[in-house]
Order: sequence, then structure tokens, then C-alpha cells
Amino acid sequence: MSLEGKKVVLAYSGGLDTSVSIKRLEEKGAEPYALYVDLGQGEAETDVKEKALAIGAADCFVVDGKEEFAGEYVAPAIKANALYGGKYPLFTALGRYLISKKLVEAARRVGATHIAHGSTGKGNDQVRFDVTTASLAPDLIVVAPTRDWKMSRPEEIEYAREHGIPVPATKESPYSVDENLWGRSIEAGPLEDPEHEPTPDVYELTTDPEDAPDDPQYVELGFEEGLPVSLDGEEMPLVALIAHLNEIAGSHGVGRLDMIEDRLVGIKSREIYEVPAATVIIAAHQELESLTLPKDVLRFKAHVEQRYAELAYEGLWFTPLKAALDAFVDETQKAVTGTIRMKLYKGTFTPVSRSAPKALYSKDLATYDPESTFDESAAAGFIALWGLPARQWAAVHGGIERVSPQRAG
Ligand code: ARG
Repeated sequence: MSLEGKKVVLAYSGGLDTSVSIKRLEEKGAEPYALYVDLGQGEAETDVKEKALAIGAADCFVVDGKEEFAGEYVAPAIKANALYGGKYPLFTALGRYLISKKLVEAARRVGATHIAHGSTGKGNDQVRFDVTTASLAPDLIVVAPTRDWKMSRPEEIEYAREHGIPVPATKESPYSVDENLWGRSIEAGPLEDPEHEPTPDVYELTTDPEDAPDDPQYVELGFEEGLPVSLDGEEMPLVALIAHLNEIAGSHGVGRLDMIEDRLVGIKSREIYEVPAATVIIAAHQELESLTLPKDVLRFKAHVEQRYAELAYEGLWFTPLKAALDAFVDETQKAVTGTIRMKLYKGTFTPVSRSAPKALYSKDLATYDPESTFDESAAAGFIALWGLPARQWAAVHGGIERVSPQRAG
């Protein structure tokens, strides 16, 4: 593909891969623009704008995306209890959708015909970038230098040296790390052996549960219509709440995951995650739902949640099905207001107290005390009809496993 004279907006992290990409795009005759989106991944190691311009970017946009990330991507994922494989809270995936959207916006601003990202050809991220661009701006062409014009690590370093691109001087970590407000992932190096237990150097956000405080800590999460709005009685915006909770839960060793994951491209990969706030928030949210939603809604929503997580994982965030599932989830969340108290202790997170103004739990109905308002005399008739199909089957077929009077004796 010829890039001669084309404006290209590149998702820029400040790291080696995307720095090299700026130069390579320029060499192909393109006019590269860099875009750095802050999703709460911690301080950039260098002044990214200065670095991108020094390498040859026509301009570099630095965007604080934290609030939008929390409000438009993390929030719906919380309402949907979105956990891929039942575990992974999807922070990388969610972040890629916002970065893609910002790439498209920047492309429109500068009149670019192309966008570019640093994903490899083996992962899920390429799918998220490419499909989001197709959904939001089907006229834009996507370039993925790392995937499409492959260079090995040593070749990249050599290339960087030749072109005066700063190469990180520190001894490189053997791991590949991705991080934002909603979590941190650690892959590669020794972790590629699934038999290898992660060593302590893998973790940054969480204390080893064995070294966590001997006293438990309680946190109280207040929810309004499915979203956490207060922590220990103090109202705060979602970004701040997540950041606080990451520290608290992380210090108690909560939120470590070590899992084998099915990538969209067919590969099974070994992933280590640190997701302290996400773990506690979703567990508390599920607890509040069990208090406030009827049985059939909970059961149906469980199916929706699994599909939702798959869509979020597999690049399909900006699609009609995802929008329709959001509408369903939002409808259910109108009732999900209340407070959950969680106990954090050496890696465990346990709901210990719950309350809601519209709780469906009724002590009057549930109590074993004699003053219960539950009409037990209605139970026998209900069960006679409930069990009628089973009785009928047994009469016709002799049961699934019929225990005859003789054998039972
Ligand atoms: N396996 C996770 C995902 O696909 C996290 C990947 C993080 N690593 C990365 N290079 N983006 O969402």
C-alpha cells in the first residue's frame, strides 16, 4: 500500500514499537501524526509529545481519556458484570475501543486517510482497532506496521539506534505489560510456560496475599442504578473510586488472576492479571443485583453477560448487538441501588452486609420464626403441580431411575 503523501494518525504509547513506527511511516512517505491517550496507565516515562515530534511526527495529540474511559466503557462493563472466561474484566479490550475512537476523531480533525496502531498479528488488539475503525469510519484505512512490516526486537533496536530514536537504557523486563485504570496484564517471558508459577516481580498493584495485613479491612460500596458512586460513605467520581479501591484492595492481595485464555485468533495464551478494584466492584455489584433483581431477570441476565463479555473481547463493541444488549442491561439496572459491605482479607473479598431501598428480600417472608407471612399451606398444592410432569414421566416410563419398593427395602 502506498502511503506517499498520506496523513496517518498513529496510536502512540511512547515505547519502542510505536516510536519506530513513526519513523517507518515517515520513510514510506506518509505524514505521521501521533496520538497518546491517557487511560490511567500511570505516568508516561518520557514527555511523549516531545519524543514523537523529535522522531518526526507532524504533530502529537495527548488526550486525557480517563473520564470518558470510566464513563463510556468501564461503566457499561460493570453493569453487565463483564468478565471474559468468567474472570478477566476486559480492561485492555475496553481501552482499545476508546483509543480507536480517538484515532478516528483525530483523523477527522487533521483530514487523515489512514490510522495506524502497533498491534501484532497474533493478538486481539488488532481486531479491536480494525473493527472499530470499520464501524465508526469505514472509509479510513488501517495500517499496522508491527503486523504488516514485521521487524524483530533486535532489528527494531538497531533501526532505532540508526535513526536516533531513544532506546530504553534500563535492563528490559522479560514481561509484556499493559495497564490502565481498570487493570494490569502481564504476559510473555517465563510466563509462557504454563507450569511456571509467577515470581513476585510480576506484580505491581497487588501485595502477595501471604504478606497482606493480618487484620481484614471492610469497604462499603454505594451503588446507584448499577454504578458505584461512593466508597466508605464518601461520594466520588468513578475514576477516583476505582483508583482508591485499586490501592485498598491491592494492599490486601485482592485481584490476582492467573489464567489460560482463548484469544479470538485461536491461540490459547497464559495471562496474569492484577485487577483489584474491578474484582471488588463486580463482586459487590453482583451481590446487590441478587438482592434487588427478580430470579428470572438474574437468570436471563447471566446469559446476556456472557455474550456481552465475548463481544467486548472479540472486537465487537460498536455493533448493533452490543447496543441492544446495553439497552437490556440498562433496563435491569434501574433497580440496582444500594450498599454492599465487602471484607478484604489476604486475597479474599467477601460480601458481608447488604442493603437496598428496593430490596426484594423480605425478612417477613424468609424468617423461620412463627410470625412469618409466607403461607406454607399453599406450598403443597404448588409442588403437586410443579412436580406433575415428573410424576407423569415416571408413570409412563417407569422413571429416569426408578427405585422400586422391593429394591428400596
Ligand atoms: N489478553 C488480554 C486481551 O486480549 C490482555 C492483553 C494485554 N496485552 C496486550 N499486549 N495488549 O484483552
